[in-house]
Amino acid sequence: MIKLKSDIHIVKKGRLYHVVESRNRLMRFKPWLGDGFSFLYDFIMNSSIFPKKFAGDIQKHYYTLTQELAGIHCRQILELGAGSGSAVNFLGIDNLYTGTDISPGLLKQAAKRFLEAGFPNPEFYVVSADDLPFESGVFDVCLCILSLNFIGSVEKVFQEVSRVLLPKGVFVCSVPVPERNRLHTTIRGVLYSEAELEKICQKYGFKFERISCENGVLLYFKAIKQS
Ligand SMILES: C[S@@+](CC[C@H](N)C(=O)[O-])C[C@H]1O[C@@H](n2cnc3c(N)ncnc32)[C@H](O)[C@@H]1O
Repeated sequence: MIKLKSDIHIVKKGRLYHVVESRNRLMRFKPWLGDGFSFLYDFIMNSSIFPKKFAGDIQKHYYTLTQELAGIHCRQILELGAGSGSAVNFLGIDNLYTGTDISPGLLKQAAKRFLEAGFPNPEFYVVSADDLPFESGVFDVCLCILSLNFIGSVEKVFQEVSRVLLPKGVFVCSVPVPERNRLHTTIRGVLYSEAELEKICQKYGFKFERISCENGVLLYFKAIKQS
């Protein structure tokens, strides 16, 4: 099991780990898509969000991420906002995967997909990306795919990612940015421009590198932890 901060109390229910708060209550969140509708997530992404809102191509999305992560093997991977487990489409199955999301319904789907794909002992945590329960310096790579705009405090996310990554660790993101939204579609959450994201990366000790890809409203980038 991945190392947790010493003051964290965690319980496993089914395939998911939950943080226990005071008075023995499980930490709960309000997911964007109510948990009962999680089964619709992949359909909505494929048929509506990607082609209409993002003006993008989902196959190109998976191809770009597959190429970017092709050299990553046997590493400790953390994913923020893992959703229903789309990372099985672009991550090598020899990696040690930890998925996080605020939606237990989506994470249950992710767990099923990762186990069926053959990942060795993947772990899934119902936690918010801006307050991670993990020990510092335990992950080689962190992924945040199409989720950064949903998470309340992006600065807090970078701070947490910087904390849990090992030196020279890499944060790979795919996120809608306003300057690529040529169709002016309404996209949920808070959108940051590439210039703003680069500035935040630098503030938290990362080197920003854009990943070359034109795919609708999406920017792909990696942030490399400098020390
Ligand atoms: C558009 S989905 C992307 C899911 C997946 N990465 C994918 O590419 O299909 C956004 C995800 O972010 C999650 N999310 C929203 N707020 C979050 C937070 N504060 N911490 C972690 N995940 C969050 C949602 O529950 C949802 O699964």
